[in-house]
Amino acid sequence: MDAKPDVDGRRVCAELDKLATFSDADPPDVTRVLFTQQDLAARAYLKGLFAEAGLTIRQDAVGNLFARWPGTEAELPAVATGSHTDAIPHSGRYDGTVGVLGALEAIRALARTGLRPRRSIELIMFTSEEPTRFGLGCLGSRLLTGSLDPQKAGQLVDFEGQSLEQVRSDAGLEGAMASVRLPAGAYSAFVELHIEQGPILEQEGLDIGIVTAIAAPATLRVTLRGAGGHAGATLMPGRRDAFLAAAEIALAAERAALESGSADAVATTGFCRIHPGAVNSIPSRAVLEIDVRDIRLGVRDRMVTEIRRAAQEVAGRREVTLTIDTLNADPPAECDPSIVAVVRAACAGRGVSSMPMVSRAYHDSLFMARIAPTGMIFIPCRGGISHRPDEFASPEAIERGVGVLAETLYRLASQ
Ligand code: GLV
Ligand code: MN
Ligand code: MN
Repeated sequence: MDAKPDVDGRRVCAELDKLATFSDADPPDVTRVLFTQQDLAARAYLKGLFAEAGLTIRQDAVGNLFARWPGTEAELPAVATGSHTDAIPHSGRYDGTVGVLGALEAIRALARTGLRPRRSIELIMFTSEEPTRFGLGCLGSRLLTGSLDPQKAGQLVDFEGQSLEQVRSDAGLEGAMASVRLPAGAYSAFVELHIEQGPILEQEGLDIGIVTAIAAPATLRVTLRGAGGHAGATLMPGRRDAFLAAAEIALAAERAALESGSADAVATTGFCRIHPGAVNSIPSRAVLEIDVRDIRLGVRDRMVTEIRRAAQEVAGRREVTLTIDTLNADPPAECDPSIVAVVRAACAGRGVSSMPMVSRAYHDSLFMARIAPTGMIFIPCRGGISHRPDEFASPEAIERGVGVLAETLYRLASQ
């Protein structure tokens, strides 16, 4: 690049801190769930920042936010970048948000150079990358890329029985869900900046991870129905305790990962809800959500098969009825070698160290890779910790990542 974009890392960190105040949990915890009052307030804050930067803002029917910096040949497919700002319960302030506010600063820094590339650069804040409310992650990017039937999306129901159709309408979003899908060729490239959420960059003492592939989870929702009753008056023989069946299934999921033969295999029962949820009442119903991952699809799917088999066995033995819904089972994605090469060149251009790596977490990039050549830029986070309140990325790491993103976007938008 002829002029180096000068990134203001302190400003990004101040904006990250401000964004973290839109939360339903006490600091340092962050909880920001789709279309809650705090999520809506965070969206209003972001729109204000995008407008202040002079970007053209659009919002689609599911609440994906787009902020465009026009290129000199605005009719060309744009280069897109972005991530998410929803936060799972009691998490931290960097997951996703670095890729949104970092992209904003990358565009501001490019604009400050006075240069203007041919292609427009479009920042996307994707709706609900996290599965917290509707059990399905990447709602926005799935719909944008035609990876989720719009009708089925509208019918998704949260634990309070409210549909996505209802809550988006309550949030003031109009238009058919089908209108969210992007036309073919909308973007010439997509690049997402994100914290690594793993320890490798920190351990290796490197600045940037250049992502080559993105692993994908399968999520199972397991519903068990047994027989409730009085905890004191119902003797142990013949009980049909739904929670005890659930507990055995959670252990079977752990065993499936440990015995898979793959060091990358993980299985997590991160959600359990018991009905009626009273200490003196035998659980009559239990719902589990199990997240199963490996970087190889075959290994992941074998684990899923094993968990299903074990669940059948447990349910039969404990005489509870079993329903297993596969909430998602997505294939992994490859990053595009041409984008990987541009990120590598941008790292060299900024004089930062880098290494290629696989993303074990999933991201909106998983779906954007289906419609545009896609790449990801990882920055180190302390101890590799994420999805926890003590998640932390240093201002220096953020500034370096934003610099690499700015240079990458400029190179791609000049092609
Ligand atoms: C994303 O938040 C993931 O769970 O990988
Ligand atoms: Mn996350
Ligand atoms: Mn994320």
